[in-house]
Amino acid sequence: MNNPIKTAVITGISSGIGMALVKKLLKENYNIIGTTRSGTLPEISHENLEVVQLDVTDSQSLKNAVQYINNQTKKIDLFINNAGAAPDVFAIEPEADAFKLTIDTNVTGSVFFTEPLLTKLNEGAKIVFISSNMGLPRNADVNGPSYRMSKAAINMYAAMLAKRLQGKNISVTPVHPGWVQTKLGGDQAPLTAEIAADNIYEAINYGMESGRFYDSALGVSEEY
Ligand SMILES: NC(=O)c1ccc[n+]([C@@H]2O[C@H](COP(=O)([O-])OP(=O)(O)OC[C@H]3O[C@@H](n4cnc5c(N)ncnc54)[C@H](OP(=O)(O)O)[C@@H]3O)[C@@H](O)[C@H]2O)c1
Repeated sequence: MNNPIKTAVITGISSGIGMALVKKLLKENYNIIGTTRSGTLPEISHENLEVVQLDVTDSQSLKNAVQYINNQTKKIDLFINNAGAAPDVFAIEPEADAFKLTIDTNVTGSVFFTEPLLTKLNEGAKIVFISSNMGLPRNADVNGPSYRMSKAAINMYAAMLAKRLQGKNISVTPVHPGWVQTKLGGDQAPLTAEIAADNIYEAINYGMESGRFYDSALGVSEEY
């Protein structure tokens, strides 16, 4: 554990999949910069974990976090955009406040946290967007208007970014983690956050392809 070989940046590590990914990657000897809205993570204290304050909907917070990460000497090997909000998954009609919060968090926040850090990525780095199969057009349904649209948008961004970065040997993959027991997923979900994190780790190392949507619960790439 004293000699971390890879550096990961993970957003939204205060709970759920983000926190489980931190625990998994620490065991796998990663050096981690993780973000929380409070700027602290009392649950985990580890010499290879740094916690940085980030609210992706707050432009000053975003600027500060980017500057902090850019000032680090180590380049990024793994960049996981995990932070997300889902205030309208049970709603049928779009509601303005929920819509804005969801798009600001899941789309605008992810895009504008990623863009200024692209130059900080190592050759061979991997960018993962924790997305959802609710954002696949073939899974269109009546509920969750802003959530579905936000994940559809991030799937498109990931596919576009994969093309932009293919000459640099940087992969970009939107990953569906399955239905997971978290604040967002609820307690009826079949997967624990720990299992979801194990599956995502497996995807990062062995399964996923750049530019293709990947279902880490099933362990397969899927069509958009
Ligand atoms: N659970 C599932 O079944 C499921 C399925 C498909 C996809 N996903 C995706 O998985 C990702 C992680 O969600 P989760 O299920 O682990 O839920 P979660 O436990 O609610 O975690 C969401 C994380 O995002 C952070 N976050 C929310 N708004 C933010 C903002 N404005 N700025 C920065 N961070 C913010 C939260 O921080 P706070 O603690 O400060 O709120 C929290 O750390 C999300 O992108 C979600 O869409 C989940």
